[in-house]
Amino acid sequence: MWLKNRFVQSLGGGRMERFGLDLWSRLQLASLGSRKDPAVMELLWDIRRGKRSLLSAFEQYLIYSVARSQSKMPGAMAEVGVFRGGSAKLICEVKGDKPFHLFDTYEGLPPSSEADRGIHKEHQYTCSLEEIQEYLSGYENLHFHKGIFPDSAADVPEQTYCFAHFDVDLYEGTKGCLEYFYPRMERGGVMISHDYGILAGVEKAFQEFFEDKPEEIIDQPTTQCMIIKL
Ligand SMILES: C[S@@+](CC[C@H](N)C(=O)[O-])C[C@H]1O[C@@H](n2cnc3c(N)ncnc32)[C@H](O)[C@@H]1O
Repeated sequence: MWLKNRFVQSLGGGRMERFGLDLWSRLQLASLGSRKDPAVMELLWDIRRGKRSLLSAFEQYLIYSVARSQSKMPGAMAEVGVFRGGSAKLICEVKGDKPFHLFDTYEGLPPSSEADRGIHKEHQYTCSLEEIQEYLSGYENLHFHKGIFPDSAADVPEQTYCFAHFDVDLYEGTKGCLEYFYPRMERGGVMISHDYGILAGVEKAFQEFFEDKPEEIIDQPTTQCMIIKL
């Protein structure tokens, strides 16, 4: 655990993380390229070339593939942690005419707590709401919510969800995502989170929340985890 924390701290969301992720993703893209739909590969390459996402290619593919399968169910879609819009773009591509709620401070990370072990800095991953709106302007029924989640959900009409993606890096934010979305998920609805099993705060939030719930946390071979609402 100590070694893992030191490793994650050394990456810390800076240039090292981006360089390592870029290299790792390009290898994954090469491996996916021989067996996946060329149109999907072009989408993944486009996101990589545009430096739009901090997810690896395998992680992006999982979001794309699960969101596509969920698009046939009732309920809206949501993402908390949009940053430069890479994972949001994947969801936009498959959501059809469903409402898609995009939550972010659009001013980077809020302060972290002790559970996060000092890995991230406040305002890290700052992005511009207007720039993301421009990037995703070709898609309909998008609803942008600026501010710290879950407070920023106060004006969102009550509805159910078939798919929710969390990528907030921190304990409090992840806990807020679970408390807000879990009761609103359709039966069979899927929640996916980035950074489970690599960021201590994210893992702690999931483990605490699901301690008394019937669902199992489905740990992925990527850094993600998935919940299927029973
Ligand atoms: C790692 S980035 C998201 C990466 C993105 N999903 C991608 O495709 O690369 C984390 C984002 O979460 C946002 N964030 C973290 N905690 C938040 C909270 N409680 N409310 C709103 N946004 C939050 C930050 O502003 C940042 O843009």
